[in-house]
Amino acid sequence: MTALAKSLPSRSAPVPDTPALLDLQGLTTGYGDIEVVQQVDMSFSRGVMTAIIGSNGAGKSTVIKAAAGLLPAWSGKILAKGEDITREAGFRRLKRGIAYVPQGRIVLPEMTVRENLELGGYMLGGDHRRLRSAIERLCALFPILGERMSQLAGNMSGGEQQMLAIARALVTSPDVVILDEPSLGLSPKYVAVVFEKLTELARGGLTIVVVEQKASMVLTVADYGYVMHTGRVAFRGLARELLADDRVKRVFLGEAPEAVAHA
Ligand SMILES: Nc1ncnc2c1ncn2[C@@H]1O[C@H](COP(=O)(O)OP(=O)(O)OP(=O)(O)O)[C@@H](O)[C@H]1O
Ligand SMILES: [Mg+2]
Repeated sequence: MTALAKSLPSRSAPVPDTPALLDLQGLTTGYGDIEVVQQVDMSFSRGVMTAIIGSNGAGKSTVIKAAAGLLPAWSGKILAKGEDITREAGFRRLKRGIAYVPQGRIVLPEMTVRENLELGGYMLGGDHRRLRSAIERLCALFPILGERMSQLAGNMSGGEQQMLAIARALVTSPDVVILDEPSLGLSPKYVAVVFEKLTELARGGLTIVVVEQKASMVLTVADYGYVMHTGRVAFRGLARELLADDRVKRVFLGEAPEAVAHA
């Protein structure tokens, strides 16, 4: 553990008392023989929006890739509603209702908006009625997609593509959606729209786990937060408490990234 991580002990704040849909317990993982994430404990409850913030290279994306089943855990446990899913592949976790939106608003540019959404629903196994009603529901949430159904995804703006990437992950009506930097590279207008939509979804009962560089902004809309530093959780707590915490503010919410190096 680095000096900084030692100087920033984990805070224990009450987790919201709804049942956890997804739990990471002592998760350690990495790439090749390089251990990147150590002993991470996180818990995601129904209808709660959780932000994961932290410095570049802290291991945020690595943690959520492991949670989504795209990277094997080296040790520790991953539980879904209390059931051990540590060794389950990503598509099985998706079947359980754990969806993942990777970084970089990945859509299939040569396919239409409708085709992209239909692909998101392949798990529905040809249940056309359910697919149709899911797409209708998503168009109500993201009206722009309804208007652009026949347009090629590649011809949409970055913000619109991100809406599509999020909507595609929601076609199967997951319980938990895990997003990696959904605001990355978007115009300020669309950054606000993305956060607004996530808030709306959480209010509707969806469990949201969102990794973000825009730390202050995401903590403003999230309920709970984890601050990662060098592969560990340095702080955890209610988002509003993290926002008000001087140590978190100084090191992780400041404008100057060099604050981390000098802390
Ligand atoms: N595929 C990979 N192979 C090897 N090392 C990797 C790989 N992906 C990430 N890493 C390394 O793991 C560490 C954590 O990376 P990770 O992407 O999880 O960080 P992050 O917190 O998401 O950072 P950022 O804010 O820059 O997205 C970094 O040192 C990174 O270089
Ligand atoms: Mg990342």
